[in-house]
This record gives sequence, structure tokens and C-alpha cells, in this order.
Amino acid sequence: MSINNLPKDNTVKLKDRILLSPVTKYVLSSLIIGIVLATGVYVVILLVSNKIDDRWPASCDIKPSYQVKCLAGQKSDYKACSEIGCCWSDKTSSCFHSLPSKHGYYYDPISRTNTQDDLLLHPRREFSPMGKKNLESLYFHTTAINSHYLQINLRSKRSQTALQNMSNTDLYELSVQVNSPAFSITIFRHRFNSTKIELLTTSLGPLIVTDNYWEWTIHLINITLYGLESTFINGTTHWLYNNVQSSKVPAFFGITLEGEAFACYVLYSGPMKIQVMDGSNLIIFKGMSLPDEISLRVFVSSTPQQTVEALFNSMNDDGLITKMNTTENLPIIIASLGLHVCPERKYIEGSIIPSIKTMIESTKKEQVPWDSHCIYRQFYPTLDTILNKSEIEILNESRRIIEESGKYIVPHLTPMILAKNNVLLSKLDNASLILKKSLVPYIGSWDEIKVGYPEWSDNRIHTEFENNISYYSDIFGTSKLIFIRDAWPRDDSNNNSLDFTRFDYMPQELRRLMSKGTIPFELTSMAVMSHYTEHNAFAKAFHAFVQQNANPLAVKDVLFDNIIYDDNDKDLPNIFGWSTLRETINRAIGSGLVGKLPPAIYICGILPNMTNDLCTRWYGAAVVFPYIVAIPEYLPGGAWMVPGSSKYAIKFLKLRASLIIYQFTVMEEYNNLGQPVLSPTHFHYPLYQHNSLINNVDQFFWGSSLLVGIVTLPNVKQLNMHIPGNLSWRHLEGGVEVRPTSAKGISVSATEGEIIILVRPGHIIPMYENAYGTSEKVVKRRIELLVNFACQQKNMNCLAKGKIGFGGGTFLEIIVNDTFVTLTNILDIKSRASLSLWHQSNLISSLTVLGDKLHYRIALDLDLCIINNDVIEKKLDPALGMKIVNY
Ligand SMILES: *[C@@H]1O[C@H](CO)[C@@H](O)[C@H](O)[C@H]1NC(C)=O
Ligand SMILES: *[C@@H]1O[C@H](CO)[C@@H](O)[C@H](O)[C@H]1NC(C)=O
Ligand SMILES: *[C@@H]1O[C@H](CO)[C@@H](O)[C@H](O)[C@H]1NC(C)=O
Ligand SMILES: *[C@@H]1O[C@H](CO)[C@@H](O)[C@H](O)[C@H]1NC(C)=O
Ligand SMILES: *[C@@H]1O[C@H](CO)[C@@H](O)[C@H](O)[C@H]1NC(C)=O
Ligand SMILES: *[C@@H]1O[C@H](CO)[C@@H](O)[C@H](O)[C@H]1NC(C)=O
Ligand SMILES: *[C@@H]1O[C@H](CO)[C@@H](O)[C@H](O)[C@H]1NC(C)=O
Ligand SMILES: *[C@@H]1O[C@H](CO)[C@@H](O)[C@H](O)[C@H]1NC(C)=O
Ligand SMILES: *[C@@H]1O[C@H](CO)[C@@H](O)[C@H](O)[C@H]1NC(C)=O
Repeated sequence: MSINNLPKDNTVKLKDRILLSPVTKYVLSSLIIGIVLATGVYVVILLVSNKIDDRWPASCDIKPSYQVKCLAGQKSDYKACSEIGCCWSDKTSSCFHSLPSKHGYYYDPISRTNTQDDLLLHPRREFSPMGKKNLESLYFHTTAINSHYLQINLRSKRSQTALQNMSNTDLYELSVQVNSPAFSITIFRHRFNSTKIELLTTSLGPLIVTDNYWEWTIHLINITLYGLESTFINGTTHWLYNNVQSSKVPAFFGITLEGEAFACYVLYSGPMKIQVMDGSNLIIFKGMSLPDEISLRVFVSSTPQQTVEALFNSMNDDGLITKMNTTENLPIIIASLGLHVCPERKYIEGSIIPSIKTMIESTKKEQVPWDSHCIYRQFYPTLDTILNKSEIEILNESRRIIEESGKYIVPHLTPMILAKNNVLLSKLDNASLILKKSLVPYIGSWDEIKVGYPEWSDNRIHTEFENNISYYSDIFGTSKLIFIRDAWPRDDSNNNSLDFTRFDYMPQELRRLMSKGTIPFELTSMAVMSHYTEHNAFAKAFHAFVQQNANPLAVKDVLFDNIIYDDNDKDLPNIFGWSTLRETINRAIGSGLVGKLPPAIYICGILPNMTNDLCTRWYGAAVVFPYIVAIPEYLPGGAWMVPGSSKYAIKFLKLRASLIIYQFTVMEEYNNLGQPVLSPTHFHYPLYQHNSLINNVDQFFWGSSLLVGIVTLPNVKQLNMHIPGNLSWRHLEGGVEVRPTSAKGISVSATEGEIIILVRPGHIIPMYENAYGTSEKVVKRRIELLVNFACQQKNMNCLAKGKIGFGGGTFLEIIVNDTFVTLTNILDIKSRASLSLWHQSNLISSLTVLGDKLHYRIALDLDLCIINNDVIEKKLDPALGMKIVNY
């Protein structure tokens, strides 16, 4: 059986393939089967008596969607292609790997004296298809971290650590089979003790490892695949260099037909190309530098939520994301959920104080809720200058004005420092703590300012900057709320003269990413001889520094640029347009699936070229985003928004402010469980795999209780939504019922000033009453509970549950049935709910039951700060409630 006959999206079981394929027929007689159970990972090794040459049969009969290209980025012909042992197709003029690929490794059984050793692998050919020498030895090692989490490592050196000691292998849900004679692995998922389902295999592509290139392919079987911080990846190619687009992790998430979930990521931070083949779920990784170890981390669990939690915890351990400590940083975290006004340096005219005053006046007039001002960015872009007397006075005055209107002022930090006349720069240079090119400090350009790049991965830098931060904190008198504009070192100079010849292969797009918007990869420092090999160390260490010295929230790309480079336009980033809005939402939904928060967004972008229609929709999307920033010009009442659009934008900001308590609760669930803030419908209804929902950003979950619909196209006033489950959903505003839909979906109205927010059946949403016209800092803390009952009979035997987070990882739990509302865990949350930062005691003022017949509101007036019981039950009598007329 060849790959050509494989059912679509799918392969036969590996066992069948082994028995049927010509490869196995040839080697079967010499198979030795060794089973290693003691390690906790079943490593089934099919050994062959060291027969290593190209006479192993291989098939070229491969469906196009399974063809892995052999000569990346090069023109080829039959002769060149067959000379390097690849398959040639006249029809498509393409050169691709055979099956199994001749560019792979084989396993050396002699080298392994005990079962805990690494497997030693040798290349089948001396040279890679690109002509570079393959690494002669490669060590393969697999470790089961726990029953649901497996690490697969390829190393250039033998590992020091022995396999971990596992006590009960029966409980393990993942196992690895090492295939032979051509080395590849297949990972199985074990169900109900006995059934074994193939999850992932590397047998459909090559394994190439040279001094500065590696390539590996994984095939995911029977999975709806998401990943790379995107909701659609089928048939896409991604280039990761982690510069202007902030940090992206090569992580994937999938849901099986049975509703079980899978996740994996590659722990590798060099430049990379990732291709997801159209229609086959084949993922091809190509790394352009060789670290000591390439590690694939694999997770399975029965629910999407458990899987994403395992991924989140592991990424936290690997330093790829950081859990927030809401015990410590609560006030700041809440403050950071607001709207932050951060003028772009380039677009400011006149002096600072008048521009702040104008901004405050117009937001006051329009009653726009906002929270902080990034004054500093306009003043000086980096936090490393000693200010003179008049500058301090300007800062002091700005601070006075901003605080007077009840808002914060936020300092601003970047990993760069000013190059001109900077005392700190010379000091760091003397201590060899600046990145260099040809032995002199490298000076780049950022926002048309000359900047240098401290070597953040050296701890001595941290001491210098700690002093700096406290200098500014004194002037600002601020908390440690610091915004990070770029965690990655920015450099807008065009680095056209970079030498890429050291790389075996460098795709055009990566070449562009590596020479634009970031520092040259060949910079050196004391710590790293060549910067590109330790690619991410710089940004990681900067994150760690901010983490320790400021509010953890600050490092979450709060000032994400919304920049998407348009492939057709090599110079101008495409910062305008509807596609950017869609991509922003797409990225926010996709982030949640791989354990990350949605990136903060600049509402409407940062350049003065926006239509009112688009800007209004952007404000609609901002309702669900944890962090938003805006330039003053795009604020309602600002220079570029007409009054008609301003009206809608204000409405959205007020809705957003009233839902901050829900957002905060969702963020707490993220901190504790990695639960996505935004996610596809599929995540919460894993069996509801409606085709039109995959690759769709119009409809998604916010937390686990709200389904949101947002228009992302011009001149559209309706959304086709797919409502899962079998009970009724209700509009958050007004309570109108929306029934579960068939495959066709339902059309829901969403005019310019509307976004669709539906409450899931059986869920309770906390909302602030009258958050309107005030900012987060001074909002009156009267909480209204909105209930959408899940009823067993019509309006009978109804139940709904909800929770409210107050920081510290514990929640107030709320249950409402026909007759009672019950609040539990009050003592646990009481002290935090009563902190003075909330400005008023937290009063659960009322409960509104959404429903056509049942739509009523009841006063509760429960003050969380004075209740002394852990549990409160209050009788609910609809007759006492105020009937609400639907609108
Ligand atoms: C493995 O762990 C178990 C339980 O922790 C322990 O009793 C046993 O001695 C360990 N075995 C080895 C070889 O370390
Ligand atoms: C699975 O195996 C465990 C122990 O090996 C046994 O106790 C359990 O009953 C088995 N479950 C099923 C469903 O076979
Ligand atoms: C994939 O799913 C199909 C349909 O559910 C099933 O028949 C097939 O065996 C599955 N393939 C594998 C490799 O599990
Ligand atoms: C991927 O996209 C192709 C068309 O572009 C489609 O035929 C195929 O079904 C898609 N596969 C998945 C798994 O969505
Ligand atoms: C969070 O902060 C509190 C208060 O400072 C501290 O006691 C606790 O150890 C911190 N937790 C973690 C996980 O760092
Ligand atoms: C303070 O610095 C500013 C530049 O930011 C400069 O224009 C001004 O002249 C300086 N004032 C004094 C008193 O040095
Ligand atoms: C800032 O202004 C206040 C008065 O508004 C004054 O008391 C304080 O000393 C000033 N701080 C600095 C650093 O100038
Ligand atoms: C931006 O605005 C300019 C005029 O101010 C216009 O010529 C240009 O077409 C606009 N670009 C976009 C992408 O809307
Ligand atoms: C409603 O909840 C209360 C308090 O938990 C409980 O005593 C009562 O039995 C529940 N009523 C129904 C109909 O479930």
C-alpha cells in the first residue's frame, strides 16, 4: 500500500503499513524486536542488522499533499534530483523525498549497552540535499514527564541525564515507537488500557541535521489542527524570526474526531520556516541554526481544557510565558485592563502639556472611559536618560494633570538605550555589555533615534537598570506599571549587507525578517560569540528583568503594533485595512490555544489612515481584548473620528468597562488553568466540528461563558452564526433568545454599533452596573449578575453557575436555581474583595434572569466585605422581582 492510496486526512495504522509496505517485506526477516518497558515509555525498537545503504526500497508514488520538497529554494531537474536520492515529477517539475526518505538517519544498535542510554543515530548519506555535511552522530532520547506529557529530544551530544524514573507505566497515555531501519518515530495514544491510536509520526519526511540546518516533518493523524497563534494553518507557510511580530512559539493544538485534544511545541528559538501542507496535516520544520538540542514536547488529554493547561504549565517552565501572581500585583493588573492612551512619538505636534490637556478635555466631554497615559514615550522613548531640571518639571506637571483626572501615568521601557551622549551607554561599553559589530558598539535606529543594545543576558545589566527604574519611579511617583513597547530589540536601519552565506539555506522571507526591524544576527558580545545562535536569549532575559522589577503584565506586548508584513509589498507594512483587523482577532483566538494571552492591540492602528467604519468595528473587537491602547487621534472625539462613529466607539468602551469584572475573572482562569481568554467555538464544544467554524474569526468564545460575533468586513451588517449545544443562548444585552442551529447557521444582525455577545446556557455573567462614563479606577463596584438558565423543562428545574475572580487564584462561586441563589467561598475572597483599591465595597446588587417570559431583576444587596459566612443562600422569588421589558 502506498501513500497514494491513503484515505484523505488519514493514514492506515502503522502496523498495517509495516506489514504491507515493500520496505518491511525486505527487512522483516532480520527484525529483532526489543521492548523496553522499564523506562515508562514504551520504546519498541525494530532493529535491523546494520544494513545501511540505498538499497532499502523506497516509494516515489506519493500524493502531492504528502510530498516533502527535497531541494528547498532551488531549481531542479530529473538529473540533479535523482543524484541526491530524491524523487522527480515531470508533471509538477518538483523534486521531493521518497518514502522513506533517503535523507534520514539509521539506528546503531551496537552503541547501546543499556536501555536507559540515548539511541545513537548515524546519517544514511554523508551530505544533505543542499550539499552540506550531515552530523555524523545524533542522540535520540525520549522522556515521559508524566502520564500525559512526553519529550522527544534530538541532541548533537550524548545527554548527561538518565531517563526519568517512572513508577506506573500502565497509566501512561502516550508511547513512542522507534521505527527502523530508516529511523523515525510514531507516537501512540493509549485509551482504555488497550486501544492504541496513532497520533503522530515522523516517518513521512526526512531527518536532516547539518551544522546550521535541521529539518524534520511530523504528521498528525485525524486531527483538526490549529497552531502558530492562528486559527487557520492548513496550507500555510510561516517564517519565525520573532522580531517585530513579537515572540511566536512553534506550538500546535488539535482536536480529534472523538473530541480529545493534542498539543505540541518545538523548543527551539532560532530562525525557522514552518510549512503546514494543504490537506494532509503534514508539518515541516526547517531550522536555520543548530542548537544543542531540538526538543518536541507532546501533550494529550481527554479534554481541550486539560491539554491546554498542560501545555501552559510546560511553557511556563520553559520560560516561554509567565504566570501572573495576582496575589501580589492585583491593583496593577486590574488597572492594566483599561484603555491606555499612548501617543505615537512621530505624530505629536506641539508640546506635551497642551496635548495632554486637549486629550483630557475631549474625553471628558465625550465621557470616554480611559485609564492611563504613556506620557513618557512622547518625551523620551527609552528609560535611560538623566533628565535635566526643566524636563523633570514637565514630567511633574504632566503627572499632576493626569492624576487630577483620576488616571495613571505609565513609564515605558524598551530593551534599547539611547546612543547619543548617553552616560549609561559608555559605562556599559566599558564593561563590554553592549552588542558589538567588529569590536565597536553597534548603533541602530529606532523611530529615527540612534540606539544601542545592552547585552540583557548578562546579569550586570540588570543592576544598572534597576537603578534606572527606581530613578524614574521617584519622579513619576508611580506604581510599577511599565509598558513594554518592544521586547525584541528593534532596529529600523536596513541591514542590507548581512552575510547569509554561512547558512545552508535561507528562504527569502526569513532573509527579509532577519535584515529588517531587528538587529543584525551576527552581532557579538561577551556572553554569546554569535548572536544568532542564541537568538532569543536577549529578549528572554529582558522579559525576565521586567518581570522581576515591574508588573508582570507589562511584558505582555502591551503595545503590539498590529503590523503584518504584506508579501506583495516589501517595504511598507500593511497597517491599514480590514485584513489587519481580522488578523488581529485571528491571532488573539489562536494565542489562547497555545497557552498565551491575546496580544494587546492598538485600536485602529497607529497611522493616520483609517476609515470610520473600520475604526468603529475595531472598537467593537476591543470589548473582548484584555489590553488595549489607542493614540489620542483615534479616541472618540479625537481628530480622526467623526461624531457618528465616536458615538459607537464610546458605547463599546462603556460596554467594555462594565465587563471588566468578567474579563478579570477570565484572566484569573487563564493564570490558574491556562484557559484561553479567546478561543474557537470548537474548543468548548469539541464534538461540534462544523466545517464553517474552522478557519472562522467571526465567531469565538470569550472565556467559557460568552460566544461573541464580530463583523470584520466592510459594508456587512449581519453575521452567520453557528450556535452549538441543545439549549437556548441569550443576548447579553436584552436577553433575546437564540436557539441552537443546524448546519446552516443563523443570521444575526450586527450593525455598525453592535457586536454580538451571547450568554451560554447555564452560565452567569458578572457585570458592573453603571460603569458608564467612568474609568476603571473609579468605577462604582456594584455587581449585577446576568443569568441564562439551563432548564430541564420549560422554565422549570433551571440551573446556572458562575464565578467571580478577585485575584489570588480563588473565586466566588455562584449557583442559581429556581428558588435560591447560593454564593460560596466568600471567606476566601473577602479580604481581596474588600481591598481599598476597589474604592468601594463590592456589592452584589442584583440578579437579572434573562428570558422572554422570565426576564426579571431582583435586588440582592449582598456586601461581600461585611458577610461573615463562607456560604450565603438567598431565596429567590420571581414575584418580588422587577419585570424587565425586552427591547
Ligand atoms: C523509582 O521510584 C520509586 C518510587 O519513587 C523508588 O521506590 C525506586 O527506588 C526508584 N527506582 C530507581 C531505579 O531509581
Ligand atoms: C486498566 O488497567 C488497570 C490496571 O492495570 C485495571 O485496574 C483497570 O481495571 C483497567 N481498566 C480497564 C477499563 O480495563
Ligand atoms: C481516522 O479516522 C477514521 C474515521 O473516524 C478511522 O476510520 C481511521 O481508522 C482513523 N485513522 C487512524 C490512523 O486512527
Ligand atoms: C485544507 O485545505 C484544503 C483546501 O485548501 C481542503 O481541501 C482540506 O480539506 C483542508 N484540510 C483540513 C484538515 O482542513
Ligand atoms: C505571589 O505573591 C505573594 C505576595 O507577595 C507571595 O507570598 C507568593 O509567594 C507569590 N507566589 C508566587 C507563586 O510567586
Ligand atoms: C533640558 O533638555 C532639553 C532636551 O530635552 C533641552 O531642550 C533643554 O535645553 C535642557 N534644559 C536645560 C536647562 O539644560
Ligand atoms: C513635583 O510637584 C510637586 C508639587 O506639585 C512638588 O511638591 C514636588 O517637589 C515636585 N517634584 C519634583 C521632582 O520636582
Ligand atoms: C492613506 O491616505 C492617503 C491620503 O491621505 C491616500 O492617498 C492613501 O490611498 C491612503 N491609503 C490607504 C491604504 O487607505
Ligand atoms: C435550589 O438550591 C437550594 C440551595 O442549594 C436547594 O436547597 C434546593 O433544593 C434547590 N432547588 C432545586 C429545585 O434544585
